[in-house]
Amino acid sequence: MKFSMVVGALSALVATVSAVKVNPLPAPRNITWGSSGPISVQELSLRTTDAHGHTHDIVNKAWERAWAAITSLQWVPAATEASISSFQPFPTGAGLTKRSAKPIKSVQLSLVDGDADLQHGVDESYTLEVTESAGSVKIHAQTVWGALHAFTTLQQIIISDGKGGLMIEEPVHIQDAPLYPYRGIMIDTGRNFISLPKILEQIDGMSLSKLNVLHWHLDDSQSWPMHMKSYPEMTKDAYSPRETYSREDMLNVIAYARSRGVRVIPEVDMPGHSSSGWQQIDPKIVACAHSWWSNDDYTYHTAVEPNPGQLDIIYNKTYEAVRNVYNELSGIFSDNWFHTGADELQPGCYNFSTYITEWFLEDSSRTYNDLAQYWVDHAVPIFRAAGSHRRIMMWEDIALSTEAAHDVPKDIVLQTWNNGLTNIQNLTARGYDIVVSSSDFLYLDCGHGGALGNDPRYDVMSNPDGSVNFNYGGNGGSWCAPYKTWQRIYDYDFLTNLTKTQAKHVLGAEAPLWSEQIDDVTISSQMWPRAAALAELVWSGNRDAHGNKRTTLLTQRLLNFREYLVANGVMATALMPKYCLQHPHACDLYYNQSVIT
Ligand SMILES: *[C@@H]1O[C@H](CO)[C@@H](O)[C@H](O)[C@H]1NC(C)=O
Ligand SMILES: *[C@@H]1O[C@H](CO)[C@@H](O)[C@H](O)[C@H]1NC(C)=O
Ligand SMILES: *[C@@H]1O[C@H](CO)[C@@H](O)[C@H](O)[C@H]1NC(C)=O
Ligand SMILES: *[C@@H]1O[C@H](CO)[C@@H](O)[C@H](O)[C@H]1NC(C)=O
Ligand SMILES: *[C@@H]1O[C@H](CO)[C@@H](O)[C@H](O)[C@H]1NC(C)=O
Ligand SMILES: *[C@@H]1O[C@H](CO)[C@@H](O)[C@H](O)[C@H]1NC(C)=O
Repeated sequence: MKFSMVVGALSALVATVSAVKVNPLPAPRNITWGSSGPISVQELSLRTTDAHGHTHDIVNKAWERAWAAITSLQWVPAATEASISSFQPFPTGAGLTKRSAKPIKSVQLSLVDGDADLQHGVDESYTLEVTESAGSVKIHAQTVWGALHAFTTLQQIIISDGKGGLMIEEPVHIQDAPLYPYRGIMIDTGRNFISLPKILEQIDGMSLSKLNVLHWHLDDSQSWPMHMKSYPEMTKDAYSPRETYSREDMLNVIAYARSRGVRVIPEVDMPGHSSSGWQQIDPKIVACAHSWWSNDDYTYHTAVEPNPGQLDIIYNKTYEAVRNVYNELSGIFSDNWFHTGADELQPGCYNFSTYITEWFLEDSSRTYNDLAQYWVDHAVPIFRAAGSHRRIMMWEDIALSTEAAHDVPKDIVLQTWNNGLTNIQNLTARGYDIVVSSSDFLYLDCGHGGALGNDPRYDVMSNPDGSVNFNYGGNGGSWCAPYKTWQRIYDYDFLTNLTKTQAKHVLGAEAPLWSEQIDDVTISSQMWPRAAALAELVWSGNRDAHGNKRTTLLTQRLLNFREYLVANGVMATALMPKYCLQHPHACDLYYNQSVIT
């Protein structure tokens, strides 16, 4: 009896000694651990070899940040990948007795094309190798941007040795590259203002999780926060003089993001969702700004949410204002891509425009589709005039809604948010490059009830969630309810049933966080760590080498990463009781580890 207990304890120990505890996120495409035991890590200096002999400030600063995080955190994996039965609190110190490998004293980085710009499609691959005898970490990257990813991996695998020093648990070989070139999140600074420090905090989370696109929905009908030289009066419609972004603020965000491998794609939403700012230039540019948004009869609504306002598509001066605003912002945002909105055009709004009602009267065959086409024909040439580098991005509505234009140029990237796989099918079959943001899977703002006041649907003495009247397209007054959990996000197989040709049109995915009910106080906890589940989905996918879903394995990675985000100043929310983090798989719904297929 006693004997077998000892044997049992010993074999559990052996199991923990041979298995690594670190759990980097996103999981690399290919990571192979050795078994010779831990390698001690001393003060690491970076030695970069650039094929063209150039030096790289961005690389040096990124390494300084990574090293500062490694040494200040002395990370102890919070949630390890151990199996159900072999969990032990870390560190045990048990693995350290075998230490005989040469300590690591440097990071040797070789860069092939250190000058490649951070733009769509740039090579982000890297390899990282730690052997028993090398005495250094060897990183090979095509570009600066791949090197930054190597650093965020490395900083997650150098951990405390439990004795005041640092170690890498085993020799390791990593070959890594993203599945998709577009891996994003969206912030909305029109509905509520988000301060600069909070925007930078999102970028910190993105760089740690290897997300590379910050889609910045700058304004909306509610407010216009950007200072414009061409029209200083626009910021009269900011929430306050302090709730604005100067040119320098925007440049700072772009530079901060760039130095962390994150592109910033600006969006000015046009012609819908437009009132604040524009109306200061000339009130006639904006239709229906002073209408009652819902008319208390949804058939006649002028906006999907208050406050109403859409750019007048027929009024000539609209295009002059659009050109000046767009050109000024194009001069600030260095990305080749620019998002020009085009979602949710509401016909009811244009009944308030004399230009548009007269245009319809001139020719009774004209439809709202013709009107949307007029916008495409007049606005797209303005957008293209920024230069041959320019790639325009729009919401799918312009090509796939009741009011869609007839002919949207095929080189415009469409962001799909409705009807999940159906719209992905439709747009890719028609030859559009798309970014997947299906609201049923990737909208991070859903499930918080309605954002409207004076709502009698709440004044019922029973749980209203099942009632048709209360649905309004989604339970509890939230049109896209329920809340999208990390498992919902990670399990999204958005390529389902696409042909190879169609699949090539999927450039990646992005999780939007609309901000009707979000500001500085809640943005990080709504964004994180769920955005990290998307980050792994688009970096290395949701399946293992055998094609099986690995959601159950993501659990510990994500719980660890949440702690890591918080430790790095990104205020990610808790996902489970800490008990679950400390007892891998104890909180699974099923004991069967392959119920998710
Ligand atoms: C992963 O890397 C290991 C070690 O370099 C290599 O042997 C293996 O073939 C790689 N696997 C894949 C799927 O690339
Ligand atoms: C807009 O400008 C065009 C030519 O530049 C002109 O033909 C048209 O009448 C103008 N429309 C309005 C509504 O002012
Ligand atoms: C817009 O005006 C037309 C003509 O008066 C009317 O038939 C239509 O119902 C109105 N549509 C809306 C959505 O208000
Ligand atoms: C896309 O959807 C539209 C609108 O429902 C439909 O008319 C069209 O046939 C669809 N096209 C494809 C290729 O599925
Ligand atoms: C994918 O295609 C198969 C075969 O046509 C069909 O049975 C299945 O329902 C489709 N899946 C989805 C999610 O549309
Ligand atoms: C586990 O779940 C999978 C998927 O439902 C099923 O095929 C398998 O039989 C289950 N295994 C056990 C042991 O119940």
